[in-house]
Amino acid sequence: MKIKKAVFPVAGLGTRFIPATKAMAKEMLPVVDKPIIQYAVEEAFAAGIEQIIFVTGRGKKALEDHFDRSYEIEHVLKQKGKTDLLMQIQELVPKTGTIIYTRQHEPLGLGHAIWCARDIVGDEPFAVLLADDLIQTDKPILSEMVKIFDRLRASMAAVMEIEKDQTDKYGILDAQELEKNIFKINDMVEKPSPDKAPSNLAIVGRYILTPKIFEYLGKKEKGAGGEIQLTDAMKTLLKEQPIYGYKFNGQRFDCGDKVGFQMANLAFALERPDMRDRLIKFIKKIQKDF
Ligand code: UTP
Repeated sequence: MKIKKAVFPVAGLGTRFIPATKAMAKEMLPVVDKPIIQYAVEEAFAAGIEQIIFVTGRGKKALEDHFDRSYEIEHVLKQKGKTDLLMQIQELVPKTGTIIYTRQHEPLGLGHAIWCARDIVGDEPFAVLLADDLIQTDKPILSEMVKIFDRLRASMAAVMEIEKDQTDKYGILDAQELEKNIFKINDMVEKPSPDKAPSNLAIVGRYILTPKIFEYLGKKEKGAGGEIQLTDAMKTLLKEQPIYGYKFNGQRFDCGDKVGFQMANLAFALERPDMRDRLIKFIKKIQKDF
């Protein structure tokens, strides 16, 4: 079965970004000139996803408006002859019916947010994208995962190698490499201290999951931080079905963290020919004061 649906949990409180996130989801913060969420939505459509399911909390309006027509702006751009910009904002609007919104009434955790999409996903495998994990790769990451799914027909998570002293910030794998960059997962541990971590392979925010996961998420068992965790449900799933890790080549920015967010802005801005030279000049200038 083809992966046609992608769930985007965007209902977290984003407390690390208060006050910016007081009235708006952190996924609407811009990296250069695009909200974080748009990068992930483009990645999903490029991977052949046909339906996007946003699990929202507060700040739903800005997100909905972003992926909708804006007649006022379109009218002004048309009048001023700014055709490029006009096309850009028109292209942002997906085909009618391809975006669905559902609400997580209380932020009970990532696992719970995904469970909120169970009736819309139904009985088919689906993708999950955590937009605040912004990933810069040569090959689009979700497209690669969809290709691997077509072959292995099993759940999987994107993984990357991290510094050993950072294991307490991630879900860490106990896994063996089956073929280049594809790992068969034996177990996973949520945020272990470096001395207890089974490896330095950390899960990042891209998943393909079989619908069986909803059964375990539906048990609503609380894990780390008193939240319903996806990792816990995946650990249980692992007892019944294989789960794989896909190690991608590229750079991941944690845009839920202030420093990670600034790094993403810098990295993406440096890729832009219209910004690069001025930025480098500025960095060189302020570097002298470091
Ligand atoms: P985070 O762990 O980054 O939590 O969530 P957060 O609440 O968004 O941010 P902080 O830690 O308070 O600053 C990871 C992803 O899971 C979603 C978030 O929107 C983010 O995409 N999430 C988390 C939910 O949708 N609902 C939840 O209850 C928790």
